[in-house]
Amino acid sequence: MTPTPAPLPRPGQVDARIAELSVFVRSFLRDPLRTASLVPSSRLLAERMVRPLAAAHARGRRPVVVELGPGTGVVTQALLTAGPEIRYLGLELDGAMIGHLHRRFGDLDVVQAPASELGAALAARELADADLVVSGLPWQAWAGRAGHDLVSSVAAALSPTGAFTQFTYGWTLWAPPARRQRADLEAGFGQVDRSSVVWRNVPPAVVYTATRPRREVPA
Ligand SMILES: C[S@@+](CC[C@H](N)C(=O)[O-])C[C@H]1O[C@@H](n2cnc3c(N)ncnc32)[C@H](O)[C@@H]1O
Repeated sequence: MTPTPAPLPRPGQVDARIAELSVFVRSFLRDPLRTASLVPSSRLLAERMVRPLAAAHARGRRPVVVELGPGTGVVTQALLTAGPEIRYLGLELDGAMIGHLHRRFGDLDVVQAPASELGAALAARELADADLVVSGLPWQAWAGRAGHDLVSSVAAALSPTGAFTQFTYGWTLWAPPARRQRADLEAGFGQVDRSSVVWRNVPPAVVYTATRPRREVPA
């Protein structure tokens, strides 16, 4: 039997993809360490990142979801597909990425601020805590003392039943920054799970899911 060919993308979809890639590449050229990738994450990796949303829905309240470093919105799209009624809040440093997010999603609550301000951003909206924090932040954001403090801020911003997901590229797993990042996660959360490798991502990546946030993170 002849296999059915995959449908070709429509012209509008091609234009949107080109616009997205162009924003991403320009942001990378402006600040390579901050953007940390030449291309956005794949849809499969994004779907893996948002899996804990199902458990948040089961708890019966409108889930509050914070996204750190949404970029051009691949993970945002997966969140809104999995839970169109979520209370979304994004923190993104790059103004061009934010412009793209508004063109793509319209009236999205995304602030131009560092991820470390997530607690203040939640408080400003009178949101007590988050059910899910998803992060596409690069290593640079998790480096040193600031990275350790960021894990504490994420843990403090989550409800006791909340979850935190962060992807990291598979080939970097055994390098010292990735091992330190894992140690910081284990200090901040009672449970840290690592997914299998998502091969259909450039480059292949894994997702950490951290649950049981600790209120007091050891220094
Ligand atoms: C590797 S890209 C990931 C983008 C998107 N989440 C994805 O998966 O395609 C990292 C994003 O984090 C943003 N970023 C880097 N450091 C940040 C920080 N400290 N606070 C907020 N956003 C940050 C960058 O501007 C960029 O959009």
